[in-house]
Amino acid sequence: MKVAVIGAAGGIGQALALLLKNGLPAGSDLALYDIAPVTPGVAADLSHIPTPVSIKGYGGVDPTPALEGADVVLISAGVARKPGMDRSDLFNVNAGIIKSLAEKIAVVCPKACVGIITNPVNTTVAIAADVLKKAGVYDKRRLFGITTLDIIRSETFVAELKGKTPSDIQVPVIGGHSGVTILPLLSQVEGVEFSDEEIKALTPRIQNAGTEVVEAKAGGGSATLSMGQAAYRFGLSLVRALQGEQGIVECAYVEGDGKHARFFAQPVILGKEGIEEVMDYGKLSTFEQEALNNMLDTLTSDITLGEEFAAK
Ligand code: NAI
Repeated sequence: MKVAVIGAAGGIGQALALLLKNGLPAGSDLALYDIAPVTPGVAADLSHIPTPVSIKGYGGVDPTPALEGADVVLISAGVARKPGMDRSDLFNVNAGIIKSLAEKIAVVCPKACVGIITNPVNTTVAIAADVLKKAGVYDKRRLFGITTLDIIRSETFVAELKGKTPSDIQVPVIGGHSGVTILPLLSQVEGVEFSDEEIKALTPRIQNAGTEVVEAKAGGGSATLSMGQAAYRFGLSLVRALQGEQGIVECAYVEGDGKHARFFAQPVILGKEGIEEVMDYGKLSTFEQEALNNMLDTLTSDITLGEEFAAK
C-alpha cells in the first residue's frame, strides 16, 4: 500500500506522517508532499525512525511524484483557523487548493481512496467530488471527508464525564463537520446513561471543541495533534480494509443515499474498494432528531457552495 499525505509539512501533516511511519503495515510506502520546501527534510527526519515503512518527501509545485501509485491520499493542505474565524472563513483559500489537487488526483491516481481533512470539510468534499466527476473518474466509494476528530473528542469527553476507559466508549457522530452540523448520537452510547442536562451540555461542547483548541492556541492555529491522531485512525482503518480485513466501521462524511443531504457523515463499512456499505445510523432520540432537522439548511448550503465553486 502507498499512502500519500498532502500538506505534509503542516501541523496536522507532520503529526500524521509520524504516526503513519510508526503504524502502517510493514512494507508500506509513505509519500509526503507539501508546497513548503522543508518537506523532503521532514521525510529525511522521519526516515531515521526504524520501522519497515519506506518514506519519501517532495516539495515544490507538483504533487505528481507523491500521488503516483497511491492507494490512499490524505489531504490536509490549506490554511487553518485563527481565533474569531469559523471554518467557512477558510473557504476562499482552501477551495482552490482542493480543486487543483483533485484535478491532479483525477489524472495521476484516479483509483485512490481520498480522505479530505482540509476545512470547511462540508464544502471541500463536494468540490473534490465534482472535480473528479467532471474528469469522469468519480467513484463515491472512494471519497471521504475525515470527521474522525469529532468521534475521538466525543469518546474522550464521554469517558471523562462518566469515569470510563476511553477505548471502551464508542460514539457515532453524524451530519457534517462544523458547528451545528456535528451531531454526536449520545443516545446510542452503550453502557452509559445521560441526563437531559448532560446531553444539552455535552453536545455543544463536542460541536465547539475545535474552537476550544483555536482559542487556547491563541493565534497559533487549530487542532493538529489530535487531528493527526484522528486522521491516522481513519487512514489505518482504510488501509486495513483495502488489504482485505473485514468488518471495519468508521464514521465519515460521504455521498450516501442522499436522504438528508448529498453528503452526510454516517457510519460506513470499509472494504477492498473503499466504502462497502453505507450503514443506517439507527434510532435517534427526540433531541437528536430535532438537531438533525435544524442542521440540514446549513449542511445543504455548505454543499451547494462547493458544487457551485467546482462548476466555475
Ligand atoms: P498548517 O498551516 O499547519 O498546514 C497546512 C499545510 O498545507 C502547510 O504546510 C502548507 O504549506 C500546505 N499547503 C498549502 N497549500 C498547499 C498545496 N496547494 N499543496 C500542498 N500543500 C499545501 O495547517 P494545519 O493545522 O495542518 O491544518 C490543515 C487543514 O486542516 C486546515 O484547513 C484546517 O482547518 C483543517 N483541519 C481539519 C480538521 C478536521 O477535523 N477535518 C481538524 C483540524 C484542522
